[in-house]
Amino acid sequence: MNKNSLFADSLSERGFAVSDNFFTKNELRGFYKALEQSLIEDDFKQAGIGTGADFQKNKSIRGDKIVWIGENNYDGLLDSWHKFIKELCDYLNFNLFVGIRDKEFHFAFYPKGAFYEKHIDQFKGRNNRLISCVLYLNERWQPGDGGELVLYLGNGEKEVIAPTFGKIVCFRSELFEHEVLITNSGRYSITGWLLNYPKGLGFLGY
Ligand code: OGA
Ligand code: NI
Repeated sequence: MNKNSLFADSLSERGFAVSDNFFTKNELRGFYKALEQSLIEDDFKQAGIGTGADFQKNKSIRGDKIVWIGENNYDGLLDSWHKFIKELCDYLNFNLFVGIRDKEFHFAFYPKGAFYEKHIDQFKGRNNRLISCVLYLNERWQPGDGGELVLYLGNGEKEVIAPTFGKIVCFRSELFEHEVLITNSGRYSITGWLLNYPKGLGFLGY
């Protein structure tokens, strides 16, 4: 039994899994650095074309700023992240027959005061998202800082998850409504989805 199989088994049995021990502090600081650089570069790009920062348009629903993680290698800073995701996908596909065929991830930054109201991670006519994954990168998070993820498990039960440094949460995208509570300090994460259809084909409604 390694930690990958424990994590994946919890995901398949309960529909969600939470773990704190997949990455070293150094790896996490590297992820944060890649995030910071991407957000800064994006700000420059946006400023250059005069549209301002790419914050989500409807701040009454969500107030985060996102930058999609592309094909570039981020100076190797994300290598262990990609390795983790690949191993998770392989385990889910080969042992639990999940059928993941693609993935998409973005960096996310919630400024102070931002939140993401209760929602489900599948859109009408685009339900290729099988599993939602979030890795938190808030090295100095403390109780009172807010920004907790609330997973609604059904039957009135819920799980409140603090966005602490290195915590990873995965859950079945179609099962759980969830929300991000208002954050009282900057909140950073890598967020994304394991897909059952290649990114570009989501619109087909598979
Ligand atoms: C999302 C989301 C949760 C989190 O981006 O869809 O629900 O904890 N994020 O950041
Ligand atoms: Ni969500």
